[in-house]
Amino acid sequence: MPRRITAPRLPGPAQLPVLGWQLRALKMLADPLAFFTSMHQRYGEISTTTPRAPKHVFVFGPKYQREMFGRPQSFIADAFRELRMPPRSGMARLTQGLLKLNGDPHRRHRGLMQPAFHSRAVAQHHKAIVEVTEEELDRFQVGEVRRIDHDLSRLMLRIGMRTLFDVAETDDVDRLNGLMERLLASATAPTTLLLPLDVPGMSYRRTLRAADQLDSAIREIIVAKRENPGEDIISMLIAARDDQGQGLTEDELVGEAYTSFCHDSSASALTWTLLMLDQHPQVRNDLCDELEAELGGAPAEAADFDRLPLLDRVLKETLRLFPPASMGLRYAAEDCTLGPYGIPRDTTLFFSSYVSHRLPEVFTDPLDFRPDRWTGASLDSYGYLPFGAGPHSCLGRAFALLEMKIVLSILLQRFRLPVVDGTRIDRKIKISLVPDHGLPVTVAAPGRDRQLAAVTGSVREAVDLV
Ligand code: HEM
Repeated sequence: MPRRITAPRLPGPAQLPVLGWQLRALKMLADPLAFFTSMHQRYGEISTTTPRAPKHVFVFGPKYQREMFGRPQSFIADAFRELRMPPRSGMARLTQGLLKLNGDPHRRHRGLMQPAFHSRAVAQHHKAIVEVTEEELDRFQVGEVRRIDHDLSRLMLRIGMRTLFDVAETDDVDRLNGLMERLLASATAPTTLLLPLDVPGMSYRRTLRAADQLDSAIREIIVAKRENPGEDIISMLIAARDDQGQGLTEDELVGEAYTSFCHDSSASALTWTLLMLDQHPQVRNDLCDELEAELGGAPAEAADFDRLPLLDRVLKETLRLFPPASMGLRYAAEDCTLGPYGIPRDTTLFFSSYVSHRLPEVFTDPLDFRPDRWTGASLDSYGYLPFGAGPHSCLGRAFALLEMKIVLSILLQRFRLPVVDGTRIDRKIKISLVPDHGLPVTVAAPGRDRQLAAVTGSVREAVDLV
């Protein structure tokens, strides 16, 4: 028998007569971050679009996020729940990783995977990260204009492939790269969600086909690595055993390999970092001084990080203002409560680090980019959560910080990358939070200056710029 809920009504708008919540759902799909911001401004830390019968609940800020993440048996993760997919398809196998698991199966998989993502283990990938970064940057010519967001995506994808699968041959990298790009492009098309029809010409069909091919490609790598293990992450996952001596099955390995392949977030974080440095020349110059003094031209290593406090603060502050995973979902697994409010089973709960990181009661002058706010600051892990919180918090955090710090240390010592004057920058969620039309920069020799580009677009709502 479901528990009877006697609880106050969640804050939210009066019911519209017909198609009320559907209209609001469309508004949310069109620009989720603007929608969440307005829900927070109007109704506060917790709200719904349908107070009489909550379907969608919005949770912002430490108070309710702490409770939601602290009760994972009531508020479960179920990534890709909205995407209909045939049960034995490549897409179903690719998406069955950690972010779809809860309870004991989640704990078991995470326990098996943790050693490969521990900071000591990821530090072993330093050489590979440096090599790939230098190869990619060798293609930059002083004086040219480049879409640095594209460059960073390619770079992070290559680092991911090298460290996860030890795929280094250009043909293999390009093939996997192409499959990944095709899958992401078709899977994120609105028609895939709205018209899941497996017929020619539909993006849903393209998604299923690309997923089948990627599933086979990852499987081939797993079979080869079983025979011939390497230093890569997938070899560690293949070898991992639990207390009962059991490892992950081949299907489970495919799902976890795909889940661990989210280097897209690191590319997004680095793109926003370069924009923030362009817009804050004093911070950029100070950071270049720090890198030069401590590294003298060499790439940063994990052992250097303690001597690079500004690098750390710049990344923290960028991840605050532009968290790549700017929103997330949980589902109520049972009739339950959050604070005093009743939450019916199957309610979708939306949370947003983008909104939570802008609460003035948590961060003073929240729209200022001020890396120094992190000097000596202690973090409330439910108020600042670029890497999530609770049992599903990012397993790749140490890896992401390592790769971002190494790449930035090389990039900023080799080049100055002023943003092209007059660039329009609109924030957009495309899996990660990215500048919608990209970030064009001019490649220049390293050096200090006080120039900053004039930029327009919705980025000016996201951060106070001069
Ligand atoms: C700046 C870069 C990154 C950011 C901001 C980020 C952020 C996140 C967030 C917010 C979550 C939690 C999602 C949720 O609660 O629904 C997550 C989960 C996860 N991330 Fe990351 N991530 C980053 C890079 C990476 C990298 C490089 C890897 C792999 C090497 C990785 C692997 C994972 C995995 C496996 C999970 C699922 C954990 C679980 O469900 O137990 N992430 N990440």
